[in-house]
Amino acid sequence: MAETPTQEQTTTATINNAPANVEVDTSFENDSSYGDELSSYSASLISSVLDYRHENGRRYHKFRDGSYLLPNDETESDRLDMLHELFLQTLHRKLYLAPIKNPQRVIDLATGTGLWAIDFADLHPQAEVIGCDLSPIQPTMVPPNVKFLVDDIESDWAYEKNQFDFIHARFLAISIRDFGKLIRQCYRSVKPGGWVEFQDWDGYPYSEDGSLNGTKLQLYYDEVIGAFEKAGYEVGPGPKLEQWFKDAGFVNIHVEKFVIPYGVWPKDPHLKKLGAWNQAQADASGYEGVALAALTRHKQWTKEEVIVLASQARADGRKHNIHMLHDFYVVYGQRPEN
Ligand SMILES: C[S@@+](CC[C@H](N)C(=O)[O-])C[C@H]1O[C@@H](n2cnc3c(N)ncnc32)[C@H](O)[C@@H]1O
Repeated sequence: MAETPTQEQTTTATINNAPANVEVDTSFENDSSYGDELSSYSASLISSVLDYRHENGRRYHKFRDGSYLLPNDETESDRLDMLHELFLQTLHRKLYLAPIKNPQRVIDLATGTGLWAIDFADLHPQAEVIGCDLSPIQPTMVPPNVKFLVDDIESDWAYEKNQFDFIHARFLAISIRDFGKLIRQCYRSVKPGGWVEFQDWDGYPYSEDGSLNGTKLQLYYDEVIGAFEKAGYEVGPGPKLEQWFKDAGFVNIHVEKFVIPYGVWPKDPHLKKLGAWNQAQADASGYEGVALAALTRHKQWTKEEVIVLASQARADGRKHNIHMLHDFYVVYGQRPEN
């Protein structure tokens, strides 16, 4: 059951965990590559669901073919698992920030490899947890209180009204076209008094000192973001979540903003560790995985052209003098009791 709010129901609380300036670790000033630093941190399914699309050496989902532009192969699953660790570290090992109490029915939308749902089910053995996704890429050895479904969360939901105590969604940037509709469907399906939490990127990178400007890394993001935008996907949902929650009717909305660096250049040990994990997930074929379908399907690039830009971006990403950052948001809100 959800906690009774103690604050005024229309309040929006915002916490900014992003330091105004991320201080650079100057011990890297005389070298330009990482080397050792990284390693030291270091249901039943119908055949049409499993008849995956193979393209440019990667594997893609089949259910709702073409609606998601990232692969679903093992390389991508490994990357999603690294991202799970990055997000856990960003939130100081919390799976969620909403003030839920004794949840009984929970759903993780677009669960990916399902690690969030599995961890949540372990933490709340009394809860029934559903993880849904276009791809059935979740493990089969899971806690008894979690189950995975193949489902398209952009379609009209078959889930009953008022049935979940908690709805969670993480990293749906570049996946979803209509966040407003998705959050309205969450409002309908969460119980009165229940909570919905979205954790997502502002997908547009930046540097506080201009060091990203003019680099191949910036060029990579410009081209790839352009392709996702052309295809109609939301690239920067993080800062817009609060308004979508308000528009849907949620109350007690709470916003927390975090900064996630790329690389081990920050001086602060926590940010350095986040940067190492972030670089590790992108180095694990992330540059190619994110770009291939977007650029070849929507901007008519060749596979070879994508590979060249991806490797140039990766090389820039290893330079200590390029200080790239992304903002990451956690937003939760409560459906009013009445
Ligand atoms: C970047 S991954 C994030 C996975 C997971 N939420 C996490 O944080 O680890 C995005 C996931 O959304 C899924 N997805 C994309 N569009 C979807 C849709 N319309 N319905 C259901 N899942 C979708 C993809 O299959 C992929 O697993």
